[in-house]
Amino acid sequence: MDPTSFCAPSSSSGSSSSTKAWIVHGLVVGAAVVVALGAHAYLYLSRSGKFRSRVIGIIPARFASSRFPGKPLVQILGKPMIQRTWERAKMATTLDQVVVATDDEKIAECCRGFGADVIMTSESCLNGTERCNEALQKLEKKYDVVVNIQGDEPLIEPEVIDGIVKALQAAPDAVFSTAVTSLTPEDSFDPNRVKCVVDTHGYAIYFSRGLIPYNKSAKVNPKYPYMLHLGIQSYDTKFLKIYPELPSTPLQLEEDLEQLKVLENGYKMKVIKVDHEAHGIDAPEDVEKIERFMCERNLS
Ligand SMILES: *[C@@H]1O[C@H](CO)[C@@H](O)[C@H](O)[C@H]1NC(C)=O
Ligand SMILES: *[C@@H]1O[C@H](CO)[C@@H](O)[C@H](O)[C@H]1NC(C)=O
Repeated sequence: MDPTSFCAPSSSSGSSSSTKAWIVHGLVVGAAVVVALGAHAYLYLSRSGKFRSRVIGIIPARFASSRFPGKPLVQILGKPMIQRTWERAKMATTLDQVVVATDDEKIAECCRGFGADVIMTSESCLNGTERCNEALQKLEKKYDVVVNIQGDEPLIEPEVIDGIVKALQAAPDAVFSTAVTSLTPEDSFDPNRVKCVVDTHGYAIYFSRGLIPYNKSAKVNPKYPYMLHLGIQSYDTKFLKIYPELPSTPLQLEEDLEQLKVLENGYKMKVIKVDHEAHGIDAPEDVEKIERFMCERNLS
């Protein structure tokens, strides 16, 4: 069935050009990091072939969500959201395998139906990180890198997935990589939109629900390139094993931001900048918004 048939006839507009270009100053910088680390890293790289070469994408999907029960199965222009996310992930060239990790038989059945590999995880997983970790342990094959692909970002670009994987491969001193995009002025003071600042080498300095950096004038500086954190992340699998056991940290608890635990415990996180309009589905109202967006852009 032609998915565009779900769009209202009036809404067609020509421009579907979504530039995916300004990705990744992280990649170039990553190479410099290897140089800076010198012989040790180089030996490691050459001995093991390509560093962190075995990569899996895991899409954690749970049925029970307080705000939106059954969310992964919601239809977006006639296709389940989880299928849209999976199809995007399958297009990423850096992933050797893509699996859906779920605690729910309906979700599993749906995913097997469109051809996805499914790993059943326990209902007790508190969050996506835990679910990824459990799925990883249940897999027979070993992987060096896990990409945690949020099932509620059905328009995630494969280039963003590839970008964070390559950034982590190029930065042996980082255990974690993630992506940011430009923050729109309307989101500046929205605590659900997490902001991020990075150092000159592209490593995360801090994440906050508040606006960072904060201009002396106490107003948004229209000229400053503020950055919005996107939910996608990849980890070194050795780090993922210890991540849940790392003690909670004061800033993490104060901001309620899991990723701060990584930084506060002294680990490095690589951040790439990408061009991405975030269309996360958090509540049922968001479905209509994303459908309208897709119809306008002729996305199917
Ligand atoms: C703050 O923002 C203004 C523009 O609103 C800009 O001119 C200024 O350089 C920024 N920084 C400081 C320290 O004022
Ligand atoms: C996710 O679960 C891990 C335990 O595996 C815990 O350390 C972490 O704080 C949890 N994160 C959230 C956001 O609940």
